[in-house]
Amino acid sequence: MPRYVLDDAKNVEDPYPVYQRLREYGPVCRGGPGQWVFSRHAEVSALLRDPRLGREYPEQYQAMSIGQGPANDYLQRIIINRDGGAHVRLRRLLTKSLTPAMVRSLAEPIGALVDGLLDRLADREAWDLVTDLAVPVPMLVMSELLGIPEADRDTVARWSTSLAAAFAVFIPEEKRREAHEAVVRLREYFTGLVRERRRRPGEDLLSRMLMAVRDGTEPLTDEEIVDNALFVYYAGFETTTNVIATGGSVLLTQPDAQRRLRAEPDIVATALEEFMRYDAPIQATSRLVLEPVEIAGRTVRAGRVVVLLLGSANRDASVFEDPDRLDLTRSPNPHVSFGGGVHLCLGAALARVEGAVVFRRLLARFSDIGAAGPARWSPSGGGFRFPYWAYEEMPVTAVPS
Ligand code: HEM
Repeated sequence: MPRYVLDDAKNVEDPYPVYQRLREYGPVCRGGPGQWVFSRHAEVSALLRDPRLGREYPEQYQAMSIGQGPANDYLQRIIINRDGGAHVRLRRLLTKSLTPAMVRSLAEPIGALVDGLLDRLADREAWDLVTDLAVPVPMLVMSELLGIPEADRDTVARWSTSLAAAFAVFIPEEKRREAHEAVVRLREYFTGLVRERRRRPGEDLLSRMLMAVRDGTEPLTDEEIVDNALFVYYAGFETTTNVIATGGSVLLTQPDAQRRLRAEPDIVATALEEFMRYDAPIQATSRLVLEPVEIAGRTVRAGRVVVLLLGSANRDASVFEDPDRLDLTRSPNPHVSFGGGVHLCLGAALARVEGAVVFRRLLARFSDIGAAGPARWSPSGGGFRFPYWAYEEMPVTAVPS
């Protein structure tokens, strides 16, 4: 039986042939100690939705990667790592605070914000699709959403990047320290924001969270509010950056796709789903088995961890015709890039609005976007392994229309 370990560099650096071998071998293979790894769409989808699996790992489990300290407490408090009643309470609060109406109302301001960024790029001979567009768009959107004042945005974004280490599979000692320090700083900062919003509530997500708590409908401590607000900020940032960068890479490497998307802007919604299927921004997630689960002819015992390869499920030929081909109008497209079940991504609608606005406006604004140098793809930046699909650089030249 093959073994797939996430912190093996070769599995991360060229994952698709590895995934294919795993799917061909069978539905399940071995992972690290106490882990089973699932690579096909059927089992990944089923396990994402199975109530016998959870996300609340024992404290020692987080300690193995991040050690003890603030980042460890943070990981245990955030919605993505809670089960049962605690999860329901946080999920209800965030769903009330980030309503479809709120997301719809953001489409225009996001358009203005993207136009502002593109205005500044129009005169430049070359620019970077990652650092000049894919990073600032979600950073600005999440800052607006949470009501972070302009003067503080860069600093908060920098701390959030340091905190990202807490989600890695392997974290070198010095990066652990950085993640713990980032949590301390972010908590201090968000605690100040909470105080300010209590005095002067606005229309932002934080004010809405506080309102729901004050109404007594969703009892939550200030520590829970702060840690979950900063998790939402983080969750909405890195992933959306990676979708924009992946779409950018498609435009650069597949000129036909670029021409088509420019000529037919109304296919942007299916194109975006396809970018997310093709290179899942989060390539893998995991669950803790709470009760024995029979799956694929095997019983997985309680206490084991299952690793779900989202990036592999999205390339499963039994669900997606010609899965290694990018098809801008693929429909249906049941990719699992937003997860599934009770932890299904809460920001999917917002991410879709952001992506659609970016690609529509970018392609309307520039008639020809080409590579000005090699893109730097970085799934495991900083020496620790993220199960992310990420780019650090993507130099481009673009001709204004
Ligand atoms: C394209 C961009 C995005 C992708 C690919 C993505 C992906 C995901 C995935 C895979 C999960 C579930 C992980 C699991 O079950 O183990 C998740 C959960 C979550 N996402 Fe997203 N996300 C994106 C954007 C956003 C945005 C913009 C926000 C916030 C506005 C957000 C907030 C959340 C939250 C709060 C959860 C936890 C939900 C829960 O535990 O109930 N995400 N996301």
